[in-house]
Amino acid sequence: MKKKINGFYAIAALLMVTMACQKSTTEPVTLQEAYKDYFYIGAALNTSQYNGTDQRGIPIVEKHFNSITPENDLKWEKIHPQSDVFNFEQADQFVEFGEKNDMFIIGHTLVWHSQTPNWVFEDENGNPLTRDALLARMKDHITTIVTRYKGRINGWDVVNEALNEDGSMRESKWYNIIGPDFVEKAFEYAHAADPDAELYYNDYNLYNAAKADGAVRLVKSIQEKGIHVTGIGMQGHYSINGNPKPEDVEASIIKFGELGVVAVTELDIDVLPPAFEYMGADISMRAELRDELNPYTEGMPDSIKQAQIDSFVDYFNIYLKHSDKINRVTTWGVTDGDSWKNGWPVSGRTNYALLFDREGKEKEVAKELMKLPSKK
Ligand code: GLA
Repeated sequence: MKKKINGFYAIAALLMVTMACQKSTTEPVTLQEAYKDYFYIGAALNTSQYNGTDQRGIPIVEKHFNSITPENDLKWEKIHPQSDVFNFEQADQFVEFGEKNDMFIIGHTLVWHSQTPNWVFEDENGNPLTRDALLARMKDHITTIVTRYKGRINGWDVVNEALNEDGSMRESKWYNIIGPDFVEKAFEYAHAADPDAELYYNDYNLYNAAKADGAVRLVKSIQEKGIHVTGIGMQGHYSINGNPKPEDVEASIIKFGELGVVAVTELDIDVLPPAFEYMGADISMRAELRDELNPYTEGMPDSIKQAQIDSFVDYFNIYLKHSDKINRVTTWGVTDGDSWKNGWPVSGRTNYALLFDREGKEKEVAKELMKLPSKK
């Protein structure tokens, strides 16, 4: 009898060990592994992550992400601060980091109204440039940078944020001096410099149907002229509690999927109270810091944690459902401490917008996202 019982326990133990082994081999432990059959999992990196100083962030990036975007170092003010000065050091380090880790490398961004020095739009006397002179300057900028990283940077956010919320063209200096065709010219120059690179139009609030329709009109009109646009990048600076509604995000993905590839380029999910009612009309100004706008300095309450998990899961479920159209989902930063959402639209808050905590540990939300594809 005793022998039988021992035999029973031995078989049960063996079964448990086998099940545990199976579990550990089937449940992915990294984000990139979990989504490898669907899309790249990207992160925006700051300089300290590719120049080697951020010893906490680098291992997370290398383990979990297979696509990277530089948060600032390819923006005009950083890489081309004066008309005769190109500053490639950080961008070179960024690209080398991506190559070393065999990542899908994104260049962000070539033409934007923000983080672009005033001299770009002026002649040597400070007068506005003519259309032709600004086009020549834009061409020089794009050609120099895209050629330098030809075959190494795999995709470019060529033009960033050219649209208003109603889908009309934003009256930026690019638009006012060159006219609406500044967008197609940027794509033309980028394609000429690297014909194999993926080229995206990138913007925020593209879940807003009017703005999404504007993006469709813009990209379609360029493609109809035979100029290459790979697709549309949806930034994705979202907030908990269904802001935006997942079905609005989905509707835009479906529209954009008809024109080409969709990329989720800058995902983060803000957990703090909205601050816009405390702000003036100029949203480039930050709202004043007050306690009620910064309630979680000691950590997120469980209800907020859960609300953020639910939001990330809702959006990722949509991304998985439309993974035939989507080639990357990139979070805008690595750890909560890195996120721009600690400083905008109110400086000095403690936000928790990303998938890794301030110590570099995987948040519960990251674990949930890793399980999601296997539930499909
Ligand atoms: C926009 C830009 C990004 C970044 C974020 C805020 O979304 O595309 O480069 O500046 O704003 O950090």
